[in-house]
Amino acid sequence: MPGGPAESTAPEAWNLSFMTLEWVGDIDGALHILDQTLLPGSQQQRILEQPSDVIEAIQQLAVRGAPAIGVAAAYGLCLASRGCEQIEQVRERWDAAIAPMRQARPTAVNLHHMVDRMNRVATSPAAAELDGVSLRVRLLEEARAIEAQDQHFCRAIGVAGADLIPEGATVLTHCNAGALATAGQGTALSVLYQAWRNGKRFRVLADETRPLLQGSRLTAWELQKSGIPVDVICDGASGSFFQAGEIDLVITGADRIAANGDAANKIGTYTIASLARAHDVPFYIAAPSSTFDFTIDGGEQIPIEERDAEEIWNVSSRQRPAARIGYRNPAFDVTPASHIAGWITEAGVLKPPFLEIR
Ligand code: MRU
Repeated sequence: MPGGPAESTAPEAWNLSFMTLEWVGDIDGALHILDQTLLPGSQQQRILEQPSDVIEAIQQLAVRGAPAIGVAAAYGLCLASRGCEQIEQVRERWDAAIAPMRQARPTAVNLHHMVDRMNRVATSPAAAELDGVSLRVRLLEEARAIEAQDQHFCRAIGVAGADLIPEGATVLTHCNAGALATAGQGTALSVLYQAWRNGKRFRVLADETRPLLQGSRLTAWELQKSGIPVDVICDGASGSFFQAGEIDLVITGADRIAANGDAANKIGTYTIASLARAHDVPFYIAAPSSTFDFTIDGGEQIPIEERDAEEIWNVSSRQRPAARIGYRNPAFDVTPASHIAGWITEAGVLKPPFLEIR
């Protein structure tokens, strides 16, 4: 394998060969997203012009991943008053947009934090002095600040975690916690990008991540573009790789982390964390402070999204089970803090009670 940081092809946050989301234009602009439902077969943009377009895109997982959902929601709220000039109309549209945007998906807390942050600006004493257009300018500024902050968090997470990757390691990841899941270079994958840039050489096992295949469709696509070697494995296969001593480290992202460190992430994460613990392999969560929910004490209070059963059975007809079978499709599970070796954040590799980011 080629060595040395100079030869690295890992993408910089400012030099990705794709864009996950981008606000195009001024206050009457629109949110452009890469439609992740079509990857990796087709790289197409979707243009979102109304809050309902953003909600639909979030629910369909056209834009997905906890930090990216938060940034998309912030811009989505800016779309509510598109074309409006009168302050009364701006406020009326804003008030109507807040609750549906906040409820677009239940588990990733970044969505709630960013909607609340935007609403604090809209309802601040300073905003009460503004006319309609000035308020819209201020709200767009805030959405841009949220995006820039997420990019900064991603880079800092990479720097904080890069030294955890041993030279020559095999790293297992689950779902997609990369540039496709954030406004920047990802969380779990940011650690890998930074380590690669630092000259470390390693390989990645990407769980396929049933039912929507974020691992095989998105993580493998993203890593392949970066030049980091990646193999996709079936979700059920990781146990045998642990048993064979082939996994040195696990890193995943998270959708919500409780005050005690319990972390919700894509369904199947707890299984891997349990295997990692059984085989004495360190399991890390990489997530920005915006993914922490200090209002809840433990993971049992994290709401878990149940998605449509069709996602499970909508596979090729040969793979479809018998008719009239029941399904359950929880999209996330909770990994207890006891299974987590460290929480890689923009403020360093932390442990509960996370005083550095409270
Ligand atoms: O249902 P998804 O694809 O939005 O789930 C995404 C995940 O579980 C990610 O691991 C998590 O949001 C962290 S993204 C940096």
